[in-house]
Amino acid sequence: MVLWGPVLGALLVVIVGYLCLLGLLRQRRPQEPPLDKGSVPWLGHAMAFRKNMPEFLKHMRAKHGDVFTVQLGGQYFTFVMDPLSFGPILKDVKRKLDFVEYAEKLVLKVFGYQSIPGDHRMIHSASTKHLMGNGLEDLNKTMRDCLSLVILGPAGPSPDASSWREDGLFHFCYNILFKAGYLSLFGYTKDTEQDLLQAEELFTQFRKFDRLFPRFVYSLLGPREWLEVGRLQRLFHKTLSVKENLEKDGVSNWIAYMLQFLREQGVAPAMQDKFNFMMLWASQGNTGPTSFWALLFLLKHPEAMQALREEAARVLGEAGQSFDFDVSALQRTPVLDSVMEETLRLGAAPTLLRVVHDDHVLTMASGEEYRLRSGDIVALFPYLSVHMDPDIHPEPTAFKYDRFLNPDGSRKVDFYKAGKKIHHYTMPWGSGVSMCPGRFLALSEMKLFVLLMITHFDLELVDPDTPVPPVDPQRWGFGTTQPSHDVRFRYRLRSPE
Ligand code: HEM
Repeated sequence: MVLWGPVLGALLVVIVGYLCLLGLLRQRRPQEPPLDKGSVPWLGHAMAFRKNMPEFLKHMRAKHGDVFTVQLGGQYFTFVMDPLSFGPILKDVKRKLDFVEYAEKLVLKVFGYQSIPGDHRMIHSASTKHLMGNGLEDLNKTMRDCLSLVILGPAGPSPDASSWREDGLFHFCYNILFKAGYLSLFGYTKDTEQDLLQAEELFTQFRKFDRLFPRFVYSLLGPREWLEVGRLQRLFHKTLSVKENLEKDGVSNWIAYMLQFLREQGVAPAMQDKFNFMMLWASQGNTGPTSFWALLFLLKHPEAMQALREEAARVLGEAGQSFDFDVSALQRTPVLDSVMEETLRLGAAPTLLRVVHDDHVLTMASGEEYRLRSGDIVALFPYLSVHMDPDIHPEPTAFKYDRFLNPDGSRKVDFYKAGKKIHHYTMPWGSGVSMCPGRFLALSEMKLFVLLMITHFDLELVDPDTPVPPVDPQRWGFGTTQPSHDVRFRYRLRSPE
């Protein structure tokens, strides 16, 4: 027993020494971007990065310019901050930058899903078929019906629905979007009451996982949290299991198509369950938080709310009185489209990551050339480099509901940086090979929700002067941000006029 102390001590010294050596050995080579390893061996800048990602990156940009390599937890990340130089990274015609390698490791760790060859391509073709075009129209109708079911309940509006009720806006939006999204995509049974109860319970568990998610990805959970994450993973695998859900009706064509592919490739049912968990996460983790920001901005900007209500009355007409209006109306809502685009500009902050295969040279828009090192990760953070660039979007922190409208009311698509027209003027969905394949469904379900809420309900903040809450710093880099605290609001069903 007495011997263990020195042995463990020596082991620790060897590990720390090895990590320091790794850091010391790494030197900037000719033509490589400025290298900033940070002062802590192996961890590098991980603490400052996690504490406040946008502030950290701003600081690095001020120190090093538009391209720099930083050490974060033993891995080297090259951030490219100039959006005019994103093209070669996103197009990657030389096929030197790999999205799949990084994603495979992440989904194995987080969802337990072991990728198979071709599944990434298959997810995108399933989505092109069933989450866009004609396939999307059917799903929109299902989504509209599920939203009204969740909002009004299986028996329709209760007698006291026109009295004021109070809730946290974030909780309210996330809860409704999750339940409606889950039922629309993963199916329902004949017992609607039971389905709603199950969806409610699943949401409670989903939020527990969601709260742990950022620190789970960074491997920063304490021992109890590790156990909790394991329990939640098993619970999701079981609840979404293909065996248990054989009886369900209305499983979306999207999910059915993907599961059929996995079956045909001989993927075991237990692994299909894990795939379902991954898809639940991808499809439900962002729509609720984005809808929260949208409704909050509308409540804080009465002129935007008024413009939107006028558009809704114009587009929906008499049909707007009912919850089951024609979903084709979603194609005639430029004001709502601009509200959603502006909300995503302010609220969506994903990081786009690609693993460098073989050293190769990145040519920037300025003509400068940088050598990227094999094994490093190239990272883009469009929230800072695009969404918050005052050159592209004047007064970038302000919510302007008509920012994406031309004076004639059509959609505005012309934005400029340094006098040059910019292709990627917002990037809430990522871009290139990993661009969100659910973006059209996401937009229509959030638009349906906002339309239903503003046309059928009176809505107000409990404290109209309450400021927009700051972003929870843990959520930077993971899709749509979340507020650091909820905002109380009240709502009541409007009486028919
Ligand atoms: C506001 C809502 C949403 C936002 C902001 C959003 C954003 C994103 C982003 C940024 C990515 C790329 C991640 C990366 O490059 O690593 C992504 C991927 C993905 N999203 Fe979405 N998403 C939303 C809703 C949805 C919905 C509703 C679905 C499905 C019904 C969906 C399905 C997926 C899938 C399957 C991927 C993985 C794609 C791949 O591996 O290439 N998303 N999403």
